[in-house]
Order: sequence, then C-alpha cells, then structure tokens
Amino acid sequence: MQLTDPLVQNLKEAARRASLNAYCPYSRFPVGAAVLTESGEIYAGANVENASYGLTLCAERNAVAQAIAAGNRQILAVAVFTPTPSPTPPCGACRQVIAEFGSQADVFGFSNGPEVFHARLDRLLPEAPRHEGMPPPP
Ligand code: THU
Repeated sequence: MQLTDPLVQNLKEAARRASLNAYCPYSRFPVGAAVLTESGEIYAGANVENASYGLTLCAERNAVAQAIAAGNRQILAVAVFTPTPSPTPPCGACRQVIAEFGSQADVFGFSNGPEVFHARLDRLLPEAPRHEGMPPPP
C-alpha cells in the first residue's frame, strides 16, 4: 500500500484529535498518536497517565495496541501530535514497540509549529532485536 499525502494528512488529523482525549493530569503534556495499518485503516491513541507515574502509557503504544487488538499485524506509518512549538519524536520504548509491527514504518511528528519530523523507524531504532532462530509468532 502506497503512503499518499492525503493518507498522511488523515493520519495526522487522527493523531491531533486523539490528543484531545489524553489523560495527563500529572505532566499536563497531551500527546495523540495514530497508526496506519497495511489494510489502510487508522487507529488512534492518547497518553494515559497514572498516579504511579511509571505506569504511564504513551500515545504511540496505545495506538499500536488498538491496531493490534483489532486484528492487524503490520504498521506502515505512525503520526504523533503534541500541542507544542516543535514536534516530539517517539521515546525509546515506543520505538521498540512500533518495530515489532513495522520495522520500516514511516514516523511523522508534528505540532502547532511548521516543523515536521519524518524518519523511518529503522533510522530511529537501528539494529532492533529480531526473532531469528525463534519459532514464528502465531
Ligand atoms: N509521551 C507520549 O505519550 N509520547 C511521546 O512520544 C512522549 C511522551 C507522554 C508520556 C507522558 O504522559 C507525557 O507525555 C510526558 O512525558
């Protein structure tokens, strides 16, 4: 499936909308993310914080989980929105989780400013662990 400009626009819009549902009373830093699956569907997520801070779920991992729970296994692109002057690229944990389903996914970061972050996941997480030598996942 080809990543067209209108698709990327839709993905970004879904991420922006999802940020409105962020639960972030501790950081007050709302994040929205959206993933595009191989089937052309878009799944969104927001960060969900917790009184036990370390249990916080980032927007990207939430969006990936939505896609996987709906039966998808391949992620082509991820968009991340933060209402900040410049974009926020995904954290290391999220890069690893995206790699599981999209080792070459296109990752976009955008914000309220004009700057757009765009990189393929294999640049954001080079030498990601692979499953060679292990039985294939179900
Ligand atoms: N956060 C995300 O959801 N995604 C990112 O890429 C960066 C950080 C969240 C985690 C926490 O709820 C808040 O932003 C502040 O770090």
